[in-house]
Amino acid sequence: MKKITINTLLKWKQEGKKFASSTAYDASFAQLFESQEMPVLLVGDSLGMVLQGKEDTLPVTVEDIAYHTKCVRAGSPNSLLMADMPFMSYATPEQACQNAAALMRAGANMVKLEGGDWLVDTVKMLTERAVPVCAHLGLTPQSVNIFGGYKVQGREDAQADKMVQDALALQHAGAQIILLECVPASLAERITKAVNVPVIGIGAGNVTDGQILVMHDMFGISANYMPKFSKNFLTETGDMRKAVAQYISDVESGAFPDDAHTIA
Ligand code: KIV
Repeated sequence: MKKITINTLLKWKQEGKKFASSTAYDASFAQLFESQEMPVLLVGDSLGMVLQGKEDTLPVTVEDIAYHTKCVRAGSPNSLLMADMPFMSYATPEQACQNAAALMRAGANMVKLEGGDWLVDTVKMLTERAVPVCAHLGLTPQSVNIFGGYKVQGREDAQADKMVQDALALQHAGAQIILLECVPASLAERITKAVNVPVIGIGAGNVTDGQILVMHDMFGISANYMPKFSKNFLTETGDMRKAVAQYISDVESGAFPDDAHTIA
């Protein structure tokens, strides 16, 4: 696979070419993903749930993400590798800079932060200091205790309008990717059209520029709960490499997510 950069994704957005991405946590799976030309990988704090067996993502530390980022980078030298900033690791812009530096040194090309316009100063400070940022909006799992559960976000008009404004403010501050989780497809479409940067969706319909899945959901091996919008690609292919190839080709063609895997 040729080296993927933010410019590759921007070009694809302009050409209307959709792209797939996945979480990854170790070198072997990273290598498998790279062999199938998965352009974007994320060391997600979902590792707290799928690797560590915790109830939510809050216990994950910067050291955890840095360790898994090193592992994934070793297996996938050419993907655009995003690393999640864990809960409370970016409460202030200064703290965000310190912790983002550790993740960039571990091999990340970009860090991902959960939150809306309260992050504007942080995103500005990070990008001015050469740390690219992906801004995660919608169902932001680190806020599970504020939301009172894992619930669809942006159903009400006021909340939807606020999310569009947040996306624009974060783009203006320097965010180079917007990630939308668990929002109605109509809102995802509004945001994807409103911003110039690539938008990656999960549970946000097939209107975004890219899609992401938690790899354990892609293979149907999540221990507890499988979200309605996720899909097990291993059942229909019977082979991990073929499952990954099928996921990538279904995203590129727009076949995934279909209506059954979309929030109306
Ligand atoms: O932590 C994670 O895996 C994520 C994805 C669900 C986007 O943030």
